[in-house]
Amino acid sequence: MSASILVTYATRYGSTQEVAETIATTLRESGLEVDLQPLRQVHTIDQYRAVVIGAPLYMFHWHKDALNFLTKYRTPLTARPVAIFALGPFHADEKEFQGAREQLDKELVKFPWLTPAAIEIFGGKFDPEKLTFPHNLVPALKKMPASDIRDWTVIRAWASDLAAQFQPALA
Ligand SMILES: Cc1cc2nc3c(=O)[nH]c(=O)nc-3n(C[C@H](O)[C@H](O)[C@H](O)COP(=O)(O)O)c2cc1C
Repeated sequence: MSASILVTYATRYGSTQEVAETIATTLRESGLEVDLQPLRQVHTIDQYRAVVIGAPLYMFHWHKDALNFLTKYRTPLTARPVAIFALGPFHADEKEFQGAREQLDKELVKFPWLTPAAIEIFGGKFDPEKLTFPHNLVPALKKMPASDIRDWTVIRAWASDLAAQFQPALA
C-alpha cells in the first residue's frame, strides 16, 4: 500500500469536480500524496491509505455514483479512514444547509458499517443556462437565478483539517 490518498467524486455540471480538485490541491500542499479520480473510473482502492468521497445532492438524494461506490468498496473502506462531502445548497442559509445534511444523512444511514472521519456539506453552484436534459425541461428551474456559494476558504480549511487527521493513519 502506498502512502497516498484517493480523492474521488461525482459531478454533473462540474462544480463538485472543482471542489474535489481544490481539496486534492490542499492535501498535496500539506505534504500528502493524492490521486484525484471520478468515482466511476476507480477500479480498486487497495493502494490508498485514506479516501475522500464527494458528490452533489440531486432531488433529495446523493449522486448514485457515490452510493454505488460505497456498496462496491465496503470491505476496503472499512479498513481505511473515509471522509465524505456533498454539494447542494444554493443559499448561504442555515436551514438549507441543515436540510442538505439531513438528505445526506438519510443516504449514509443505508451504510451502517461506515464511520466517516468527517462529513461536510458545501454550498453548490447553479446555472440555469447550463441545464441539460431532463433538468432543462423544468420551467421553475430555468427561472431560478444563477448562484455559486462555494466558499473556497471553508473548503480549503476542511481539507487542511483532514490532512491533519489523516497524517497519523499514514505514519
Ligand atoms: C435539478 C437539480 C436538483 C437539485 N436537487 C438538490 C437537492 O435535492 N438537494 C440539494 O441540497 N441540492 C440540490 N441541487 C443542487 C446541486 O447539488 C448543486 O447545484 C451542485 O453544486 C451540483 O453539483 P455538480 O455541478 O457537481 O453537478 C440540485 C440541483 C439541480 C440542478
